[in-house]
Parts: sequence; structure tokens; C-alpha cells
Amino acid sequence: MKKTTTLIILLAAAVMFGCQKPRAIVVIPEPVEITPKSGQFTIDSRTTLCFGNLGAEASETSKIIRELYEQYFGMRPNLGDAESAKKRSILFSVSEKEIKGIGSEGYVLRVRPNRIVAEANTAAGLFYAMQTLMQMAGTDKLADSKSFAVPCAVITDYPRFGYRGAHLDVSRHFFDTAFVKKYIDMLAFYKINKFHWHLTDDHGWRVQTDQYPELTRVGAWRPERTSWDTLHPVRPDEPMTYGGFYTKEQIRDIVHYAAVRGIDVVPEMDFPGHSLAEIRCYPWLSCHGDGIEPLCLGNDRVLDFCKKVFDEVFDLFPYEYVEIGGDEVIRERWSGCELCQERIRKEGLADVAQLQAWFTREMEKHFNAQGRKMVGWDEILDGGVSPTATVNWWRSDPVTFKKAAVNGNEIIMCPTTHCYFDYAQDDQTMRHLYEDNLIPETLTPDERKLIKGMQANIWCEFIPTESRMQTMVFPRAIALAEKTWTPMEAHDFEDFVARLKDQLGRLDIMGVDYRPLDAGLTVGFNTIMFH
Ligand code: ACM
Ligand code: ZN
Repeated sequence: MKKTTTLIILLAAAVMFGCQKPRAIVVIPEPVEITPKSGQFTIDSRTTLCFGNLGAEASETSKIIRELYEQYFGMRPNLGDAESAKKRSILFSVSEKEIKGIGSEGYVLRVRPNRIVAEANTAAGLFYAMQTLMQMAGTDKLADSKSFAVPCAVITDYPRFGYRGAHLDVSRHFFDTAFVKKYIDMLAFYKINKFHWHLTDDHGWRVQTDQYPELTRVGAWRPERTSWDTLHPVRPDEPMTYGGFYTKEQIRDIVHYAAVRGIDVVPEMDFPGHSLAEIRCYPWLSCHGDGIEPLCLGNDRVLDFCKKVFDEVFDLFPYEYVEIGGDEVIRERWSGCELCQERIRKEGLADVAQLQAWFTREMEKHFNAQGRKMVGWDEILDGGVSPTATVNWWRSDPVTFKKAAVNGNEIIMCPTTHCYFDYAQDDQTMRHLYEDNLIPETLTPDERKLIKGMQANIWCEFIPTESRMQTMVFPRAIALAEKTWTPMEAHDFEDFVARLKDQLGRLDIMGVDYRPLDAGLTVGFNTIMFH
């Protein structure tokens, strides 16, 4: 037989018997354990999507998995229950008996030629099983295909850290709810589970606050400028037309949208610095009532303002962690303020750093009384802080890291050196983020247990558009996702980059802009390092 004839016969046989070489399993974050099996499952119009026991959130879980299926595969599945989960079916089920070793976010996914079974201890685990399944399906014909091949395997998977976060500053530039949802979708696709929402800053107040309506009527707006200096000084003749805010209804909708995607929202109201938006509305919030930040901590009315704002925030955001900010406060202003000096004397404080720490502790008492836990940028450590607050370690100083750990504070790593996604990128940025160990050697094993996880910070002074935002965030957020999900021992940058190439096709299909892998050095205003 001629060689070509043999090849044609072999190919025909392969197609007839469904034994074409399965695609490699390409998933990010890399699952903990993959055991490849022979064959593949085909998702097509004959596939039945089945739901067994789904626990307390049954209708939400089945709804989101069905929605993802329809969006990603572009077809409506046939629906069934555990009994009908036989041939050509995909069954999602919370296990009757606890599956050991996978915790509350892990899952076990078994792909066989006739049947896929995803099991987990919780709905969140099933959601992640679905994300993995979507990534396992080929992308080649995603947009218009009628069928998708999923290579057979058994996957057991669970995260390295419980806190895998991404932050977004919507104060410097405003991003609408549709975009915030898209951002949440992208985080969820890579199993990021915390969204730190920076909702107030000098440039705009973004939350409807019933007790202080000026905050959104006035504080949500600034001049529409394209220059880098978007705020100062505002000329009297300039219209305040740029901005926006989220209504309570919109916020509740986003919080729910995130929750069904496994994401907790950590809202940040940044006090007592970065406070010009509120001071512009209510000058009495400042020392001497002169409209200059920070908030006056000698004035009881100011503390009352902060507590009342947080009460409205607690009502909107159910996740127990809420962020007070506390970064980059111009504390020297308090030295020249009688009320602040009086507070320092009365409370027996040594200096203005301790005044901020006193404020933070007062606010923490209020948080705790409402059943909430406080998070703050690492300046909240400066004048002494309670050990029950959680610290965003951002100034990259290992001494501060150690100080937090010795004090017993939980720590979220987000140093400027690696996790500031508004900073310029070069060819090594992602490698450093992926490979560098950020945990100081000086930490004891017990202190290491205080590390909750990591997050990326995206400050938007120089990020005016959705497209630019995505390009700063992707694909490096995918490296952060793998770093925080996959066990350290399995981190392999070259292998990650090879898998990342496959992901870029997915980002294209999902309409996400990203920085090309060969873009070289990015220069521009995003290299300026202040907020
Ligand atoms: C910060 O970057 N100012 C926390
Ligand atoms: Zn004052």
C-alpha cells in the first residue's frame, strides 16, 4: 500500500472510532493533580447537563453553571438530574460525604468518554470545576463550533491560599457596572476570589450614601480632563462633568453577581487620608474647616461621619472584611490643629502617628461591634494597631511585614515591587511576579500562617479607559492567579508561559484586551509612582 493510502485509512479509522489524539490539558491555574486518561468527552447538542445535590444555594449554583455553559459553548444544554446523568451527561453535585483534603473551594472532576462528573464540598467548588471544564475544552472553534472536545482525566484541585485578590480603583477614573461585572467575570475565570473595591479617594466618591447626599451629588464629579492632572487645581469656570457613582441597588446587584461567581467583595472607604472628595462636600470634615485633607481626628463629628458611612457600607456588603484604607495620610496637618492636639493630649498619645492608630482602633471597635473585621493598608501599623486587623502589605518593606506578623496581624501581600498592575511592564515583570518569593526569610512557621494570600492593586490615575485597564491587568493577573492557587512546588514559569499562549485565544474570544507577550518595555505616565 502506498504511504498516503495508509495514512488516509488510519485517519478515517481514527475519526470512526473517536480515538484522535486528545489535546493536552491546558488549565490555568494549574490544578493540583491531573491524571490523564485515554479518550475524550464531546460536548455538543446531545449533551445533558445534570445537577445532583447542590446544597443550600442550589438554584443559584445551577443557574450560574448553566449560564456559563451557554455563554462559553454557545448552545443550550439539555437538562437533567442525578438519575438522568448517564450517557453524554455532565453531572455537578455536592458530595454527600465530605471529600477530604480539598476544603471549601476544591473539587474533583472526572472526565470519561461518556460522562463527566464534578464533585465538591460546596457550590464554590462546583463553580471552579466548571471553570476548569471550560478551559479544558478546545478553543479552536469556540466561536462557531457545534462541538467541543474535552480530554479524559481525573483532576483533584484546591487552592494554595484562601485569599486570591484583585483590587480596582474606581475613584480616579469611574468604571460603570457593566465593566465591573466583566472584570469580575475575568477574575472568576481564573479562580480569583476577592474583589477589593476602592470606592473613595480624592477624585471621586462612588457610593450612594443616604445620610450624606452631597457625597454623590457633588463628590462624585470632577472636571473632565485628559491631562494626567485630573483634579488640581480646579478652576472656578470648569464644569464638573466627569464621574459617576453606584446606587445601592447597583451595588447589591454587583455583590450578588460576584457572590455567585465565588467572589467576596471587600469595599474600601479610604479614611482619614485620600479624603478630598468628601471634604469638598463637607469642609467641616477637615482641620479648621478649610477644605484641606486629611480628616480632622480631633472632631467627634468626623468620627460620627465615618461610623455612619461604614454602617451604610456594612448594610450593602455582606462579606465580613471591610477596608478602612489609612494609607499616605498627611499627618503633619494634625500638628497645627487645636482639636487634634487636644485629642492627642486627652488620649495620652505620643504623636500624630499614634493619633491615626487611635482613630483606627476606634473604628475597629465599631467594625467589631457590627460583626465586621477591619482591613487597612500597612500604614495602620505605624502608631500601633490591634492584632485583629488585617494588613495589606503594600510598601514592600520586609521590616513592616515582620512587624505585622510579630503583632499577630493577618497579612495580604500586595507589594509595589510585584503587585502594582498600574505600573509599567517589561519583559521580566510577569516572571518576577510568578517566581519571586515575597515572604521574608525572617518569618517563623507560625508567623507564615498569618499570610492570608495575595492581591493585585490597580490604581487608575493613568488608566482612563476600559481597554487600557485590561491591558495593564492581563495577562499578568493570570500569573497572580496561578501563584495564589497552585502549590509552590508546581510553579514552573516556562510551562506557565506555554499554557498562557493557549489562554490568549480565550481572552480574544471573551473580548478582553491584554498586553501581547512580546510587547517589550511599556513607558508612559503609568510609571509615575504616586497615588
Ligand atoms: C497605596 O498604594 N497608596 C496603598
Ligand atoms: Zn484636626
